[in-house]
Amino acid sequence: MKSKYLILISIVFLLIVVISLAFKDKILSASKTRGYLEYTPDEAVSLAYAKCSSCHNIDKITKYCFRCGPPFIVVVHNMKSLIDIERAKPGKEYLPTITDAEAVAISQVWSGLIGNWEEGWRKEDLKKLLKGDEALIKLLDTPFSQRKIEQALMKKSIPGTHKEGTFNPEGAGSK
Ligand code: HEC
Repeated sequence: MKSKYLILISIVFLLIVVISLAFKDKILSASKTRGYLEYTPDEAVSLAYAKCSSCHNIDKITKYCFRCGPPFIVVVHNMKSLIDIERAKPGKEYLPTITDAEAVAISQVWSGLIGNWEEGWRKEDLKKLLKGDEALIKLLDTPFSQRKIEQALMKKSIPGTHKEGTFNPEGAGSK
């Protein structure tokens, strides 16, 4: 009797292993989408390019600057809301949604590659602009040194952009 159960358990276990191996890539990417696993900086960059180019050119992002508006953490939140509004329209269901984990990775990509001027803003104001977006508020409260993707990308830049440093009030407004 006992050995029957053992055999059954072994078979079930083997099946789980086989299925996991067969769907390894799917399971890995689904875990990242949901935030159980972290994105590597390279994966985060591909994700940001893919998700942020479905409505407008990447130019809109690379030309964005600290004189243009709030830091990327707020832009990503706004785009997330825009996507929700757009997707509700007929024929727009193809637009990609952005999960919390993806938004956290994508914010870091653009802040790292183009510039991060969160420090020039009052945290309370940024939190208001994030309108209860818990994942991004948590990122806002994460010190720069602990934002792995942003740290890794800070030394890199993309063609056609000039890296914006942290906000410099004296430089604001002057060309
Ligand atoms: C649902 C379509 C859609 C997607 C997807 C989208 N955007 Fe946008 N984006 C817009 C529209 C529409 C505007 C112009 C309206 C505005 O500025 O609010 C815009 C404007 C912008 C601007 C310029 C804002 C300004 O004030 O000049 C930036 C920067 C930007 N998007 C970044 C992003 C990033 C980063 C992503 C990926 C997270 C993204 N967008 C994904 C629709 C989208």
